[in-house]
Amino acid sequence: MAKNIYRGDVVFSADAEHLHITEGGYLVVEDGFIIGLFTKLPEEYAGLPVTDYGRGLIIPAFSDLHIHASQYVQRGIGMDKLLFDWLSDYTFPQEARFASMEYAKPVYDAVVKDLIRHGTFHASLFTTIHYDASAYLFQALEGAGLSAYVGKVNMDCNSPEFLCEDTDDSLRETERFLAEHQGGKTVRPILTPRFAPTCSERLIKGLGKLAQRYHCGIQTHLCESLAEVDSTLKLFPGYRADAEIYQKAGLLDYGPSIFAHFIFPSALDLEILHSNRSMTVHCPDATTNITAGIMPVGAFHDQGLPISLGSDVAGGQSVAVYRQVARSVQMSKLKAFYEPECNHAITFPQAFYMATKAGGSCFDRVGSLEKGFRFDALVLDHLEDAGIPLTPAERLERFCYAGDDRNITARYLGGRELAFD
Ligand code: GUN
Ligand code: FE
Repeated sequence: MAKNIYRGDVVFSADAEHLHITEGGYLVVEDGFIIGLFTKLPEEYAGLPVTDYGRGLIIPAFSDLHIHASQYVQRGIGMDKLLFDWLSDYTFPQEARFASMEYAKPVYDAVVKDLIRHGTFHASLFTTIHYDASAYLFQALEGAGLSAYVGKVNMDCNSPEFLCEDTDDSLRETERFLAEHQGGKTVRPILTPRFAPTCSERLIKGLGKLAQRYHCGIQTHLCESLAEVDSTLKLFPGYRADAEIYQKAGLLDYGPSIFAHFIFPSALDLEILHSNRSMTVHCPDATTNITAGIMPVGAFHDQGLPISLGSDVAGGQSVAVYRQVARSVQMSKLKAFYEPECNHAITFPQAFYMATKAGGSCFDRVGSLEKGFRFDALVLDHLEDAGIPLTPAERLERFCYAGDDRNITARYLGGRELAFD
C-alpha cells in the first residue's frame, strides 16, 4: 500500500485525562498504520497527494466492549422493566429465535452494518447459545474487517427450558466454537458464560479448562445489580465474591477478561480485577434502563481500574457508543450529586478515553492516532452553527452529546476508506 496523507483537526487521547489536539495536522499512513503526525508536512512527503478534510475532525474509531448482537432487534423495548423481568419477558424469548438461521442472518448483518454506521470498528459481542448463528456473526465481522471478540453464550440453569443448555452439550459446543475459530484475522472467539446466576459451577469449571487449553479470554456480566450479587452468592456458597468464581476456575489467566457493569463490587472483586488487569465495561444507558445502578466511575478512575464503555444493546437502546461517552459524564454527575462523599464527576476527556484508547487496548494497536496505531479513524463534520466557530475539543464534545452518524463523513478501517451510504 502506498503512503497516504490526511489533513484535518486530529484529536485522540494522550492519556486517561487529556486530549491530544493537532489543528490542521498531517497524518501519514503507510500499509494501514500511522507513521507520523505533523503540524507541518516534512520535506520527504512533499509532492504526495493530501486528502484535506479542512475543519473536519479526525478521531480514532470507537470500541464497544459490551454488546449483545442477538438483542439488536429488541432496542428500546421493555425499558420499563427491571433486569430479571426484562430478561424473562423479552430477552430470553427473543434470543431463542436464533435457533433459526433464517432469523439470525439478517439480524447479524444489520448489526455489522450499524456498527460501521456509528463508527464502532472494535467490539466484544455476545451472541446466544446457538452455534450456527454465532459462527455466522463471527464470519460476518471477519468479512467486514472489524476487530472483534465473539462469544457463544453459555447458560445451563435458572433459565427457561427453551434457552437452557445441557452442561456437557454446552461445553462441547463451546469447545467446537473455539477450535473452529482459531484462524480469524481480526476476530477471535471468547468464552461467554452469561452471568453466574445462569451457570452451574460445573459449567464454569469446564469453561476454565477450555480457557487453559485454548488460551482464551472471557466476557460476562459482573456485580451488575444488587439482586444479581445477592443471588450469585446464594447460588455459589463456597465463594466470597462474584469475580472469585471465574478466577478460581482459571478463566482470568489468558486473553482479556472483560466484565460488564461492575457496579457493586466487594473489596475482593476489586482486588481480583486489579491483579488480573481485567477490563471493566461501563454501560450507562443500560444500567439506567434496567435500573441496575450507576458505576462509581470517578472513584474507579482514581484507583487506576481499566474502564471501557459499552452500548449493551439491548439493555442500551443504541449502538452509538459516542453517546455513552456523554452519558458516562452525565451519570457520574448524578452519582456525585447523590453520593458526594465517595464519588466525583468525570471529565469529557476521561469519558472519551474509555471509548477509544482504553477499549482499544483489548485489540491490536487501535484506539489512538499515534505513530504505530492502525488507521481506524472517523472524520466528523458539520458540528458548528453557521458563523460560530468551535474549538476541536468543543466539536468533539458536541458530537458525543448532540451529533449522530450523519456527522461521520468518512470512515477508515486499516487505512482503507469504507464506502458508506
Ligand atoms: N445479565 C444477564 N444477561 C443479561 C443481558 O442480556 N443483558 C444485561 N444487560 N444484563 C444481563
Ligand atoms: Fe449485557
